[in-house]
Order: sequence, then C-alpha cells, then structure tokens
Amino acid sequence: MLNVAKLRKDFPVLMGNPGLAYLDNAASTLKPTCVIQTVDEYYSKLGVNVHRGVYKLSYLATDAYEEARSKVANFLNAAFDEIVFTRGASSALNLVALSYGLNHLKPGDEVITTELEHHSSSMPWLNVCQKTGATLKYVPLDKEGRITVEAFQSVLTEKTKVVAITYVSNVMGYITPIEEIIALAHQKGAIVSLDAAQAAPHMKIDVKALDCDFLSFSGHKMCGPTGIGVLYGKIHLLETMPPVEFGGDMADDVNCFDMTFKDAPYRFETGTPIIAEAIGLGRAVEYISSIGLDEIGKYEYFLKQKAVEGLKEIPNIIIYNETAETGIISFNIKGVHPHDAASVFDNNDVCIRAGHHCAQLITKWLKSVGTIRASFYFYNTLDDVEKFVNSVKEAEKFFSSL
Ligand code: ALA
Repeated sequence: MLNVAKLRKDFPVLMGNPGLAYLDNAASTLKPTCVIQTVDEYYSKLGVNVHRGVYKLSYLATDAYEEARSKVANFLNAAFDEIVFTRGASSALNLVALSYGLNHLKPGDEVITTELEHHSSSMPWLNVCQKTGATLKYVPLDKEGRITVEAFQSVLTEKTKVVAITYVSNVMGYITPIEEIIALAHQKGAIVSLDAAQAAPHMKIDVKALDCDFLSFSGHKMCGPTGIGVLYGKIHLLETMPPVEFGGDMADDVNCFDMTFKDAPYRFETGTPIIAEAIGLGRAVEYISSIGLDEIGKYEYFLKQKAVEGLKEIPNIIIYNETAETGIISFNIKGVHPHDAASVFDNNDVCIRAGHHCAQLITKWLKSVGTIRASFYFYNTLDDVEKFVNSVKEAEKFFSSL
C-alpha cells in the first residue's frame, strides 16, 4: 500500500496549497523536493558544461550527466548507449520520423498510426509521408475508441514499414495491446515507434521484453524537470540513423566539405546537452521506482474508478472512457463547452484540463469539441476525488439552470 500522506510531503506545491486538487497529471506532474534539490545542486555545485572541459568540475558534471543516462537505461532495461536525451517526448518522436522515417520510406511503403495518437505521435509521420510519398494508414478504432489487435491486423500488410502508436492514450487512458502489435509488425519486417509519454510515469516498462524498436517519453510527466525527454532506440537502428540537427558536441571530424559524427547516442545530442534536466530526470526515475510503478498504476486506477462511480450519480454526464485501465477520465456535461465547465473547477481549486488535449483526431472521432479530463497520480487522494465530483455536480447544476 502506498503511504500517500507521507508521499504528499515530498511535493512543495501540495504543501504550499492546502485544499488544491491537482488532477492534471497527464499534462505534467508536480515535482518532488529531491528532484528540485538535485537540479539545484547541479547549478550551485557544478554549473559547467560536459564532455568538453579539461578540469575537475567538468569531469564531475560529465559523470553526473552520464550517470543519469545509466539510471534511465536501468529504468527501461535498455543498454546505456540506447538512451538519447531529447527536449521531450515530442522531440524524441520527431527524431525517429525525421531520421529513420525520411531515410527509409519511399512511395508504396505504408506507415500505420491511429486516431488515438497525441499530435506529437501522428504529425511527424504525416509530415514524413507527405515528403516521401509513403501511405499513412489508420487502425480503425472499436466502438469504445480502442485499438484492437484484430483492427491492427486489418491494416497491416507486406508494405508496412513503420508502426507509430501510443502505448497509453492521453485522452482515453486505454492501454494499447502493444506486445501483440509489435510481434505482428515484426513478422512483416516493420519497426514500431511507441509513444510512452502516458505509460512511463505509470507502469513498469521493459523495452527488451516488449521488443519495441523505439520508445519515447517526457521527464516532466513523471516527476522530472521540464525540457527533458528520452528516446530509447535499439542500438543497431540508432547506429544507422543520421543526425537531424548539426553542431557542437555531436561532431567527430569537421572539414570544409565533409564531416563525420560521433556514435549514437551522442550524434543526436546537438550543442550543449540538457544537463541539469537530465540529472534531474535521473533522480526522478529513482524516486518513482522507489515508490513502485505497479503500486502507482494500481492506485491511480482505484482513484479513477471512484471518480467514475461519483460521475455516474450525476445527470447529463457523458463519460467517454469508463473502462480505461489507467488513471485518466474523459467526460463532458451535455450541452456545455468543456472550457466553460473548466471555470467552475478552477474556482474550487480543482486543476483539470479541458479541450482537445493535443489529440484532435480522437476528439473528432468522439464527435465532440473537446473533453474535460481528470488524470490522477500517486499523490492524489479520495479527498481530491470528492472535490472533483462535487465540482462536476456544481457545474452540471449551474449550467442546467441557465
Ligand atoms: N500531452 C499533454 C497532455 O495530454 C500535454 O495534456
């Protein structure tokens, strides 16, 4: 069992704002003191560049930065050189498309994606398909809006070269059956790029067991700093991929008319790396691992189920993802724009997100202008659920009285 009362003390924002129900964790989680202190320590005790300086402080900063890479590699069961630090999940997903995609796809090839994707998962491939002439195909979603193995098989062909797919939907909170999808894609010789931005903070990931080719996520959604993300790539793929940005430390030998690059992962880390943020992310993965990813996932699901029970007592509520296996709930109040409803939550210090959540395809699939989304993390409580449900009641009552 999680000791939630004790864990909450790790979060200055929760301690400084009694009564706040922070339920926008799919957008960004709060940051614990240990991560804040780790970032602060880099700036106050080191604060210098890595890989370049021929002096002790720079060696120490380099060690701390590369130790963070080891921590992330252990977190995913990956090898050290399979971890590329990026600015976030979006940059990581774009890197795969711009480096692997642009250099491997041609007219006649097919890329499979889905309407459940965050823009950062689908748009890079729409761009690459437009540029290369490859065909973009969508897995038909089932009536709940889920990706099924059968539907995936219906669009998989000998021509499929890439599958770009979400591990957990940021709007619906559904877990994709990725093990089967990866195995089927590999039978056709296709590679699989997973958007794990909503998975890595909430469940144990073993990239070797999954056998995914690429996996991307962000630090700030899992107690880490903003501005840092991770691309995991199988080393034999990373080794063949050209950089998409040039300059700084990624260079090996530079001449007037030719150049060579460092090996992966360094050829993808252009300029001065994201040093403080990477070190902070290393601390964050240690922190959430010490809590236990299985426990985190189970607890968020418990809170989400309690919230669903509460919403079902209220008239005029449309819940879009009642069966989601994670801590995300998406819903609307009939006839009320989600942004209008959001003001009631804000008045009650309940932080939720309203709108299309950077996932317009699923919003359109739901035939809505957007949804109200509450997303739980391990520091949320049944009190937060109660405040949330009471706010929905209040909003429904208010708008139905107009
Ligand atoms: N991708 C983030 C979300 O779903 C920002 O809210």
